[in-house]
Amino acid sequence: MKVGVFDSGIGGLTVVKSLLEHQLFSEIIYFGDTARVPYGIKDKATIIRYGIEAIEFFKNFDLDLIIVACNTVSAHALDEMREVSSCPVIGVVEAGILATDNTLKDKNANILILGTKATINSKAYEIGLHVKGFYNLQTKATGLFVPIVEEEIYEGEVLEATFRHYFKTITAPDAIILGCTHFPLISEALQNYFNKKSLLIHSGDAIVEYLKKEFDFKKRYEKPKLEFFASENPESLRNIAKKWLVI
Ligand code: DGL
Repeated sequence: MKVGVFDSGIGGLTVVKSLLEHQLFSEIIYFGDTARVPYGIKDKATIIRYGIEAIEFFKNFDLDLIIVACNTVSAHALDEMREVSSCPVIGVVEAGILATDNTLKDKNANILILGTKATINSKAYEIGLHVKGFYNLQTKATGLFVPIVEEEIYEGEVLEATFRHYFKTITAPDAIILGCTHFPLISEALQNYFNKKSLLIHSGDAIVEYLKKEFDFKKRYEKPKLEFFASENPESLRNIAKKWLVI
């Protein structure tokens, strides 16, 4: 199975990491729209346009599946992308909601949803979690984490100050949905900030759980073929991929 993975930048690499750990695909083509990141501050029409352009990009590769490894695009543009795609397109939001439901036994659990402004404003997680019976929800748009991660800052003063800025009035929730694929890169620092009291829900693990439920994976691929593309500075993305994915 040959899969395309799309994100606005390097965040989707956290999803690729989970795909590699579970050896699900023979070939992974990654595309990061680094020239136009961040998407999370853009309006719906723009996010849809960029999403459709990503489908156009993937048309050169004869894929079996496209994973939208970006919560912002998943929350706003999935239907429009499906309309123009010749292969199935799946997003991380639905997977994240299912993973939350599978992981949290207590429907009263206090859940903090983090994401970009566009993801939080879409209410996609809240709507989906309400359907599953979770109502004790808080949301916080934490878009500054995106450029911080794109700068490869995963710990230290700048990040700590940003945590204090966003979480001043928030005490450790039972669970935190990392509703942006950039955020797992700072998950260790985030865990420490909340004294390891919160369970983190990660789009990459969620999508693997979802894929295993939806598709029948017969084979495992220990050494899949990997290709990385970016709309700007692809070398930099490839270097980050090498470091982060240890390839
Ligand atoms: N990684 C993306 C997400 O999951 C978006 C970050 C951005 O481009 O603002 O939402």
